[in-house]
Amino acid sequence: MASHAIDTILKEQRLFEPSDEFRSKAHIQSRAEYERLYKEAEENPEGFWANIARELHWFKPWERVLEWNLPFAQWFIGGQLNLSYNCLDRHVAGARKNKAALIWEGEPGDSRVLTYQQLLYEVSKCANVLKSLGVKKGDRVAIYMGMVPELPIAMLACARIGAPHTVVFGGFSAQSLIDRINDCGASAVITQDAGYRRGAEVKLKEAVDQALPQCATVQNVLVYRRTGCEVKMEPGRDHWWHQLMETASADCPAEPVDAEHPLYLLYTSGTTGKPKGILHTTGGYSVGTYITMKWIFDLREEDTFWCTADIGWVTGHSYVVYGPLQNGATSLMYEGAPTWPEADRFWKTVEKYQVNIFYTAPTAIRAFMRLGEQWPRKHEMKSLRLLGTVGEPINPEAWIWYREVIGRGRCPIVDTWWQTETGAAMITPLPGAIATKPGSATKPFPGIIVDVVDREGQSVPKGAGGFLVIKKPWPAMLRTIYGDPERYKQQYWSQIPGMYFAGDGARIDEDGYIWLMGRVDDVLNVAGHRLSTMEIESALVANPAVAEAAVVGRPDEIKGQAVSAFVTLKAGQTAGEELKQQLRQWVAQEIGPIAKPDDIRFTDALPKTRSGKIMRRLLREIATSGTVKGDTTTLDDFSVLTKLSGDEE
Ligand code: PRX
Repeated sequence: MASHAIDTILKEQRLFEPSDEFRSKAHIQSRAEYERLYKEAEENPEGFWANIARELHWFKPWERVLEWNLPFAQWFIGGQLNLSYNCLDRHVAGARKNKAALIWEGEPGDSRVLTYQQLLYEVSKCANVLKSLGVKKGDRVAIYMGMVPELPIAMLACARIGAPHTVVFGGFSAQSLIDRINDCGASAVITQDAGYRRGAEVKLKEAVDQALPQCATVQNVLVYRRTGCEVKMEPGRDHWWHQLMETASADCPAEPVDAEHPLYLLYTSGTTGKPKGILHTTGGYSVGTYITMKWIFDLREEDTFWCTADIGWVTGHSYVVYGPLQNGATSLMYEGAPTWPEADRFWKTVEKYQVNIFYTAPTAIRAFMRLGEQWPRKHEMKSLRLLGTVGEPINPEAWIWYREVIGRGRCPIVDTWWQTETGAAMITPLPGAIATKPGSATKPFPGIIVDVVDREGQSVPKGAGGFLVIKKPWPAMLRTIYGDPERYKQQYWSQIPGMYFAGDGARIDEDGYIWLMGRVDDVLNVAGHRLSTMEIESALVANPAVAEAAVVGRPDEIKGQAVSAFVTLKAGQTAGEELKQQLRQWVAQEIGPIAKPDDIRFTDALPKTRSGKIMRRLLREIATSGTVKGDTTTLDDFSVLTKLSGDEE
């Protein structure tokens, strides 16, 4: 990590106020109200979080709100609760009993609705099935499924009996499953025969069969039948979901657990070495996801909320399952690919279920931009009221497109910055209170104390780039890396001593708005200027020909680093020398000659992780040596790499 700050070149001036109509119905209605809440939380964080926690059900109240031994936090000590109870029983006891909790759209077009009562029934049975397989409080359960309702049912069943789950994204390989199961010592696996993706079957049970000979701790496998494809069932170990569910009792009271009882582990790939098991515990995570869901998405009783993330990622944990259900909301889940069978599947689905709040990733937005406006324009989507993004910095032009083409200029956008480690959204507009600027995640959520600092932890001046840190503990924070507290300390709390730093660059403008600048590992140093990849990419994406861009540095004898750009074009644009020169000039004009790409490669697609993040590390290798030798286990589409390395300047 370099010690000096990052130069900033992006100059975005547009400002969008929420409409009076939106404001007047919002939970938080003005900047002044936000400032008041923020101040209140800053002055008395324990009182602020305790007030929110009291909106949930506790079997036993806490004795102390926070115990903080840097970097180890405990929240709501002595309190007992159950997250499955707060997601289900609490609502079933009242008017939401027959409200839709989950609306599910299968890829082939089948559909299911589960009311709160029905979901409680399924979860209780599943919890009893797990118990009958010998799963006890504290035992780890690995869940390897696609986006079917049985996935949240399995998670809630684990939470109900106090068995921490670890959901492994269904797109990961048998090897990833082995690593995760062995790291946490899971005793049971819940899976399905196969899932649907782009009309094909993803054989999940087969991957489990491949993995298990190398996983000594697993004693039982529960298999949900989705596609009906043939699977091998190992007697004594493998059990059909439908058979055990049929006879299981639907009476399974939620087990009160301590606030600090582990709720789940979710593995994220570190830049090096083995994946890190991010540990979240029950009380703080419940409080964080509950209140962020309510205020950021400005939830109303009648809303249909759609977060398009796969539940295999933290976004799905917090905003498909636990955030919406704790709030008694209706959460939509979709099983398959965004463009299957045609490029308007998302927009068709928005219309079919009259979705009000839509939350997706910048990578998806840029992909839709590339496919063209005609697809969303086929649908009116009048029900949409609020849009959200998460996962990467969003380029201003993509933001504007999202606002105009999807939101029809009517819907505020919440650009939410957070991480697997933070559990819940941290920097984000509250949509009725904060005017938005395209590309800025705006303001910290009340109770979240952030700053942009230099390597020594000193605040950098307004407008200067630096390292984004969090200075005080927050309820939904990770508690540790499973089994490796030393790595937790080193990784997050030691690079900038005494503060939480997880790798992002940022700057704060004159209005106190925060602009994320991408991972600091990706920062370029061109002739002594530290440039954020995100800003150069934003300039490229602002050109009408460009759909998506990734910028990396490659060694350069004179400048230290040269700027290498990988560009995908919008439909109908022709790649060629002329366009290359135009784009170089364009960047020089937009942000200055210093940022002008030294080389530009056109490509059909950029290498991305399964969660949609551009893998700049691989692009750096290509830009530098023309080939890739590094680890590609998280890469989504391998053919992309061959195409890129074959396409030299
Ligand atoms: O670099 C930031 C980026 O995604 C990282 C966290 O990734 P993950 O743990 O997979 O969680 C993603 C979903 C919460 C961050 O360190 N990131 C996430 N949201 C944003 C973002 N970068 C800029 N703006 C965002 N809104």
